[in-house]
Amino acid sequence: MAGTANLNLGDKSVDFATTQGSEGEKAILIKPFRQATGYVALDPGFVNTASCESSITFINGEEGVLHYRGYPIADLVENTSFLEVAHLLIEGHLPTQEEYEGFKNSITYHTLLHENLKRLFELVPTDAHPMSVLSAAVSALATFYQDSLDPMNEDQVRLSIHRLIGKLPTIAAFHYKRSRGQAYIYPDNRLDYAANFMKMMFGFHTEPYEVDEEVARILDQLLILHADHEQNCSTTAVRVVGSSQANLYASVTSGICALSGPLHGGANQAVLEMLQTIHDDGGDVQKFVELARDKTSGFRLMGFGHRVYKAYDPRAHFLQQKVEVVLRKLKVNDPLLNIARKLEEVALSDSYFKDRNLYPNVDFYSGIIYRALGIPVNMFTVMFALGRLPGWIAQWKENLEKGYPICRPRQIYTGETMRKVIPMSER
Ligand code: SDX
Repeated sequence: MAGTANLNLGDKSVDFATTQGSEGEKAILIKPFRQATGYVALDPGFVNTASCESSITFINGEEGVLHYRGYPIADLVENTSFLEVAHLLIEGHLPTQEEYEGFKNSITYHTLLHENLKRLFELVPTDAHPMSVLSAAVSALATFYQDSLDPMNEDQVRLSIHRLIGKLPTIAAFHYKRSRGQAYIYPDNRLDYAANFMKMMFGFHTEPYEVDEEVARILDQLLILHADHEQNCSTTAVRVVGSSQANLYASVTSGICALSGPLHGGANQAVLEMLQTIHDDGGDVQKFVELARDKTSGFRLMGFGHRVYKAYDPRAHFLQQKVEVVLRKLKVNDPLLNIARKLEEVALSDSYFKDRNLYPNVDFYSGIIYRALGIPVNMFTVMFALGRLPGWIAQWKENLEKGYPICRPRQIYTGETMRKVIPMSER
């Protein structure tokens, strides 16, 4: 529903059109803003700025709602597979059986890496952070697969999409094996996506590796929960880089780099490290809640708070319900889960957190499950990237399909005004 917003600026009165999304979100269309007013809007971190119109994911932060293409996350995570969700996000609809088989088979066909790419894993230090290796390897894909770089060519885009979804788990698992001095376990095309990843990670050539179907399903559900989240930091990076018509490998590399930050995807690793610190310190969660309240401490409760959710993150809610069942299934008794439960209980009854609507986010419980699955802590954010990949791809593709202009924001300059250079001898 269109409307009008009026802005009074000194002796000027300027009208702007407004718009409303399918879920009632409202926006002022400020495309003519600078020309009409001589002003720009200043909004560091884009807290109040929509970068695009999108039909992929909807979040209602006040009510803790998350939909992918109109489907509630709780329905998808219980009733679909990760590759079905990837198809939904990228193609816009849940696949028919025939579409699913075609999509899945094409991705399975692309799980192998160019043999020379393995040298990258041998080159980097074995203690390199897996997110740094992931970004380097994805960027290198553009050098090996030069026949799928053109973002304006539909066939090349489809090929690069299937290559990325097929190869990302192989890259992650190969580096893991290399970091532990173990032989690579190649993809097994008979296995589904999550099962194949588990075998590449934890299998050995010396004995058969049977993937527990329930464990593979848990991993598949974790990937679904992470698959997209509208215009988060890393997705914005992917859109910004893609807006210059950089290829998909380069754009996804920028998403991986943005995701690695501890305020974003790196938080799942930071949560586990925080819980371990609290445990090793004796388990006094009240002490750490006090620390988080104290601005001078520089300590934040990792896994708490969110730019958009001012209610319980629905993904965290699902994980909070599931974590106990998963650990029992895996026969894991993790003392950090008790710490997490206590921390959540204390924080959610504390005025500092309540006043700021700080609730657990997706990263608060996911690490406890990854650890129970045997994933090393420094690979938790890699797991986030494996899940987020189809969301990055869908958002990158939508940005190009909408013909959005190259991202180039303005600024307010606050530096020195005109100065004259004086010779160094006189400085
Ligand atoms: C993800 O955007 C997405 O969708 C991201 C994501 C996705 O799926 O892509 O959901 C994934 O990144 C989840 C968030 C993971 N990060 C963390 O768990 C790190 C800890 N959380 C925070 O650093 C923080 O909550 C952010 C970064 C997530 C959100 O920060 P905002 O929206 O910029 O909020 P803010 O930093 O301005 O905080 C508002 C207030 C501040 O206090 P005041 O200045 O009002 O007194 O809340 C405080 C903050 O100091 N605050 C916290 C806190 N988070 C915010 N205080 C203590 N502990 C925290 N965790």
